[in-house]
Amino acid sequence: MKSKTVGLVPTMGALHSGHMSLVKRASAENNLVVVSIFVNPTQFDNKSDLEKYPRFLEKDLETLKKVNSEVIVFTPSVEEIYANNINAQKFDYDGLEHEMEGKFRNGHFDGVGTIVKQLLEIVDPHKAYFGEKDYQQLLIIKKLVEKNHIPVEIVGCPIERENNGLAMSSRNERLPSETRKKASFIFKTLLEAKEKFGTESALDVTNWIKEKFKQEPLFDLEYIEIANADTLEPIERKRDNEKYRAFIAVYADSVRLIDNIALN
Ligand code: PAJ
Repeated sequence: MKSKTVGLVPTMGALHSGHMSLVKRASAENNLVVVSIFVNPTQFDNKSDLEKYPRFLEKDLETLKKVNSEVIVFTPSVEEIYANNINAQKFDYDGLEHEMEGKFRNGHFDGVGTIVKQLLEIVDPHKAYFGEKDYQQLLIIKKLVEKNHIPVEIVGCPIERENNGLAMSSRNERLPSETRKKASFIFKTLLEAKEKFGTESALDVTNWIKEKFKQEPLFDLEYIEIANADTLEPIERKRDNEKYRAFIAVYADSVRLIDNIALN
């Protein structure tokens, strides 16, 4: 029996407090933490997004040195992961991949599955940590592990936010400071939507959000969806025993931001 436990935190670097909350949780629950930093080319459907993705390896290593437990940082090169075939495998996640991010980011979850499966095989951790910030990704990883019988526990961690409520993201670095301040609008709107969801229909709530965004020219709403929190299927009719979440993707100064909130 393995007496020491290993926790894996996969990341693409440019570490912020959102990532570090996963690292802290992993270090509280394991003897050894492995943090991978790898900007995975196959999960980007947009070449310029990949090129512009922030890379701060030295700074990230400094940040990880400050963690109060043993951390191994794994920073493979693209060649080590993909050799000379930079392509994603195809995955079937029982339909989860066709909703929301799957509709707007072609092949994204094939790329995510390809890298995460490989990281799990290389590191062979007891637990692996993922943020609810990317809630659809979290469900997809759980499905990947279940379908491929990978012996690891997937742990979901809550969304860390900036003081103004904006969900932390490496992409926030690309926002002009005025826009970054105003982007608190996204979470504020989700909170109001949660209030409304108590008494109004999902359709009325989503229409209300769409209307709010029309009045806010700084932000370009890509999608707003209220869906079942387990299947991600768009809600048809509220049922007492089902959990729902609202999911949103927004462009601000051509930076793509996503967020989500539990509604009940
Ligand atoms: P990345 O965007 O770097 O995120 C790494 C992990 O940190 C993910 O599990 C993500 O959900 C979590 N995370 C990011 N922002 C967070 C926040 N504000 N609060 C809580 N958790 C947050 O997600 C990826 O990388 C990649 O797709 C990856 C899984 C590493 C595969 O390449």
